[in-house]
Amino acid sequence: MSKRKPSPSTELIHHPYQPPTGFVAPQPGVFKASTVIFSNVAALQARDWKQKAGYTYGLHGTPTTFLLEERIATLEGGAHTLLVPSGLAAIALVDMALLQRGDEVLIPDNAYGPGKELARQELAHWGITHRFYDPSDPGKLAAMVGPATRLVWLEAAGSITMEFPDLGALARAARDKGVLTALDNTWGAGLAFNAFDLGVDISAHALTKFPSGGGDVLMGSVTTRDHDLHLRLKGTHMRMGWGVGGNDVESVLRALPSLALRYAAQDAAGRTLALWWQQQAQVSRVLHPALPGSPGHDHWHALCSQAAGLFSVVFDERHERARVHAFVDALKLFKLGYSWAGPVSLVVPYDLAVIRPGTAWRGTLVRFSLGLEDVRDLQDDLEQALRAAFGTD
Ligand SMILES: Cc1ncc(COP(=O)(O)O)c(C=O)c1O
Repeated sequence: MSKRKPSPSTELIHHPYQPPTGFVAPQPGVFKASTVIFSNVAALQARDWKQKAGYTYGLHGTPTTFLLEERIATLEGGAHTLLVPSGLAAIALVDMALLQRGDEVLIPDNAYGPGKELARQELAHWGITHRFYDPSDPGKLAAMVGPATRLVWLEAAGSITMEFPDLGALARAARDKGVLTALDNTWGAGLAFNAFDLGVDISAHALTKFPSGGGDVLMGSVTTRDHDLHLRLKGTHMRMGWGVGGNDVESVLRALPSLALRYAAQDAAGRTLALWWQQQAQVSRVLHPALPGSPGHDHWHALCSQAAGLFSVVFDERHERARVHAFVDALKLFKLGYSWAGPVSLVVPYDLAVIRPGTAWRGTLVRFSLGLEDVRDLQDDLEQALRAAFGTD
């Protein structure tokens, strides 16, 4: 090699300085990389992607992603976690890893809509069938499990209509027939109940919601207690290339210390406003699992003391949809948009006939997700919007 000094561009990339080791701070360091550098060929060839003891490629893990995986596993009472780019990707990962042509998956009829659509479209194209079941009746679920059933999805509370099922009985109904269960645990966030203690095999979680808390990150996780099941999921995760970036992981890591505080605050605000709605003449139903009389309240009460800051109201059918939409449009602090658990309170109207065909409930449903604003200001906002749309009705 020539004696020529390397040019600055090379020196800046291959700089010899290494900061002293031993830096300790409450905040974890953030690693971002695609390439992982090996010291020699033997080390490269010896590295096993299945082991968390080492690294192969950024897609399959960095110190930063491993850190968040371990924290989510702890949060959920599981042992092994995989990170994926969204909550919906977490659902897709479970489906793709566990189902093949000829298999059947059973999905609650009140489950998160895009997960159902995944079954109707992609799974159907791949020769995987699905049926929707009524989660309020574990006996019916047990009767539906057939020889082709390989996976039963669970969700608590149900998406949008907020029914709380007897999770333990549903998990048992599947387990007794040797079928795996996967729970969409986004609502409980690992705080309201422990899914694994109920016998659930897999927890899928939209970290986009409570763990991120900022409304600025999309991420999901898939957690198990069973190591072999984790490796099945991890194999598919690796082959599909569903990794996440260090900056996004850092955002979630930063938000985790305040998770329980935010969950409790949003729960308190949600219950305050759900109770307030019960006094309003315009609505015929308030759907919040912590409210006596709400579907599945007894199951919620037996299992949980906490609830997500999320509820729905059904406007009485005498009010035409346009007037309910005028109410939603009149809201100022509640913003119109999908998702929940961020700092900004959100609202979305739904057509019950579309989201729950066959339901006996009539009228327009509006879902509220509580942010972190002062609940008195949120109530003022609801009051002014009701006045604007309904007058003194
Ligand atoms: C219950 C539930 N599961 C999963 C998801 C999907 O999460 P993501 O938006 O990260 O795909 C959502 C999103 O609204 C959800 O409400």
